Amino acid sequence: MKAPLLFSLLCLGAANATSAAPRGPAAPIYGVTLPRAYRAWRMIGLAQETGTLDELRAVLGNRKAVAAYRSGRLPFPDGTVLVKLAWKRETSQEFSPAFVPGAATTVQVMVKDTRRYASTGGWGFGRFIHGRPADEAQHKTCFACHQARAQGHDFVFTRLAA
Ligand code: HEC
Repeated sequence: MKAPLLFSLLCLGAANATSAAPRGPAAPIYGVTLPRAYRAWRMIGLAQETGTLDELRAVLGNRKAVAAYRSGRLPFPDGTVLVKLAWKRETSQEFSPAFVPGAATTVQVMVKDTRRYASTGGWGFGRFIHGRPADEAQHKTCFACHQARAQGHDFVFTRLAA
């Protein structure tokens, strides 16, 4: 009887270790990782960027993010996570007046943790390209732009697409 018990305990230990372990490689400076299952999160808003990037974007949020957006209250609470997906903008092959997502470019993450990220408005940032974090130089740019342009909305640009 002892062996199966030991085995179960080992399995439990392994499961706990997995849930506590970082999920994939972490972004420099902030240690932000890609959240698990974010593709199943709700849509908050959309954006298009013209110019050289020429991308379509979708911003998804976890439950805390959705609740905060619905309440309309700022600042966003700790535990809020926002993920922005981006794709090259392509002309639809079936219907040329329409634009559709082409190749995926970046996945960007913002995590609210007021204590851990006190010096950057309470937000940690992560940019991932095909699942790999971008370099430190890119992560140095994140807060400056969000601070300069979206300070009045808790450093978050995206509004709920009603
Ligand atoms: C030059 C300005 C600028 C820089 C630099 C920048 N962002 Fe943003 N970010 C934006 C804008 C504008 C939006 C609104 C959506 C859009 O236009 O794509 C946005 C949206 C986001 C969002 C969705 C939440 C929100 O604020 O709307 C995330 C997540 C995000 N950025 C992460 C990052 C990360 C990570 C970095 C650094 C690697 C970064 N951003 C650097 C301008 C910037």
